[in-house]
Amino acid sequence: MTDVESFAQAINSDTRLIWIETPTNPMLNLIDIKAICKLAKSAGILVCVDNTFASPYLQTPLDLGADIVMHSCTKYLGGHSDVVMGALIVNDEQVANQLQFIQNAVGAIPGPQDCFLMLRGIKTLHLRVQRSCENANKIAHFLKNHPKVNKVYYPGFKTHPGHQIAVEQMNDFGGMVSFDLKEDTAKSAFAIMRSTKLFLLAESLGGVESLIGHPATMTHASIPQMDRHKIGLTDSLIRLSVGVEDVDDLLSDLKQALDA
Ligand SMILES: Cc1ncc(COP(=O)(O)O)c(C=O)c1O
Repeated sequence: MTDVESFAQAINSDTRLIWIETPTNPMLNLIDIKAICKLAKSAGILVCVDNTFASPYLQTPLDLGADIVMHSCTKYLGGHSDVVMGALIVNDEQVANQLQFIQNAVGAIPGPQDCFLMLRGIKTLHLRVQRSCENANKIAHFLKNHPKVNKVYYPGFKTHPGHQIAVEQMNDFGGMVSFDLKEDTAKSAFAIMRSTKLFLLAESLGGVESLIGHPATMTHASIPQMDRHKIGLTDSLIRLSVGVEDVDDLLSDLKQALDA
């Protein structure tokens, strides 16, 4: 999807929905939402954007032409890693009615306590995401200059292939940073993940606390190694969800883990 022209070739008469995730997990590729929506509109196809990584504070896909926005509210919207919830946001009554029919039929409704926690979380979304973005920016630059680090994936770098798209469709570059190691083995990644004290090892993201994860054996373990390598998801790739802690504490935590 980063190559809109070749993506256009993949659309055929059976295509009903185009599903975009941007920035992507865990490589942080950027997809041009406006360009894909333009393509879809001309073919009468709906576009859904998984907006989980950006959150509504950084990216509003309906304004860019999308028909449906999906959030794992479990992440930034809730923000405290204590709720599992999802949401679909639409701007068309017919689509809303169709989705509501399914929701009613299968009973996929959130509980009152979950709703309370979600509403409370959303009140500080802007503060949390803003701080995560600031922290992530500093951490990405620190990692870029570290001798043990091979490559840092962060849309805020001018050298990132999707940087210009990020500038155009996002308000900031988000709190997610991925990087891999010069010594490209899972063992090296494990050694670092075992050494961090503030970055906790967990699959989730978007909470106030910083998390560290190993996509090859966690979120993307079900993808064959060959396919993972094709997209740059190396054995040593580490994904960070940068939280809202004091950035100097986070930097010294990563520094001691990398140096150990
Ligand atoms: C981008 C993205 N979309 C969707 C999901 C699924 O969300 P949930 O775990 O709330 O079902 C996740 C994480 O698990 C995610 O990272």
